Amino acid sequence: MDFRSDNTSGVAPQIMAAIADANSGSATPYGDDDATDGLTALFAEVFEHDVAIFPLGTGTAANALALSAIAPPYGAVYCHAHAHIVDDECGAPELFTGGARLVGLDGDHGKISPIDLAATIEDATPHGPHNMQPAAVSLSQATEAGTLYSVEDIMGLAGVAKAAGIGVHMDGARFANAVVGSGASPADLTWRAGVDVLSFGATKNGAMGAEAVVFFDVRRAADFARRRKRGGQLFSKMRFISAQLAAYLTDDLWLANATHANDQATHMSDALVAINGIDLMHPTQANEVFVAVPAPMADGLDSQGFQFHRWSLGKNNAVGLRLVASFETTSDQVVALVSAAQKLAV
Ligand SMILES: Cc1ncc(COP(=O)(O)O)c(C=O)c1O
Repeated sequence: MDFRSDNTSGVAPQIMAAIADANSGSATPYGDDDATDGLTALFAEVFEHDVAIFPLGTGTAANALALSAIAPPYGAVYCHAHAHIVDDECGAPELFTGGARLVGLDGDHGKISPIDLAATIEDATPHGPHNMQPAAVSLSQATEAGTLYSVEDIMGLAGVAKAAGIGVHMDGARFANAVVGSGASPADLTWRAGVDVLSFGATKNGAMGAEAVVFFDVRRAADFARRRKRGGQLFSKMRFISAQLAAYLTDDLWLANATHANDQATHMSDALVAINGIDLMHPTQANEVFVAVPAPMADGLDSQGFQFHRWSLGKNNAVGLRLVASFETTSDQVVALVSAAQKLAV
């Protein structure tokens, strides 16, 4: 009964099979193999646009290296104050950019607003060489609060960024969940709304370990192959990462997995908020549920073996829980959690 993260899930059978299929004969190393070559066309079809795509191993590397391509060492990168790049990447974005500063903006439900972004950039108007120069905005989609930026939200934020002449990065560790949850196309959520570079996640949604940096303006990718190599992310046996990404996109597996995860999260969310004493902390729009529950209920669920993260302390001794559904979460698991919570309600 593990609701701690979508990272606790295993590997989708189709992706495991693709890895096994890739395991025959030899292939040119370092990404000069057929599977990696084929990814450009696959991603171009999904995004309805020419792309430069770079497979790599972790979401942290994708974010840090993508940001390094659009932010100089003296640049400021605007993002939510609790973005993964701020709270959970151990300074990798600062390291890989050579010193850019992450500037965290507050915002309800994990989202930043165009008004706050514009005001923050305005405040940072350069005075000679003395201050950090506005360089990029980074948006998490889905956000760390399990919410989504709509196409209009992204257009608004990207519009502010473009007016200031800065780049737009999207942390799409849960991009599939965002596509399904929003009902918008991958193109509408990215380049059509003004996103320049996307960290495209697959690991949380069925891959063994595969992410990709996707550039929509291929000119921005000119030196990225070297950045990836310097970052230790040019895998010699790249074919196994590429095979995962190819299987992930084939027959819309990525969307099917995300649909399942999002549906389970919606069921969980709807049933939990109907229970006395449980409050929803953020709208459930993808595959994560954030609820404030009475502390004895959290302890009771814990002692019955339900696993989850205690995210925050709420008012009146309530505990904020993060409950994540994955492509493997079953209805039985959700029902068991909900009925345990019902029995613990007062
Ligand atoms: C929003 C977000 N971005 C990026 C990542 C990528 O992290 P990792 O380096 O663990 O693959 C995660 C993983 O938890 C995440 O939640």
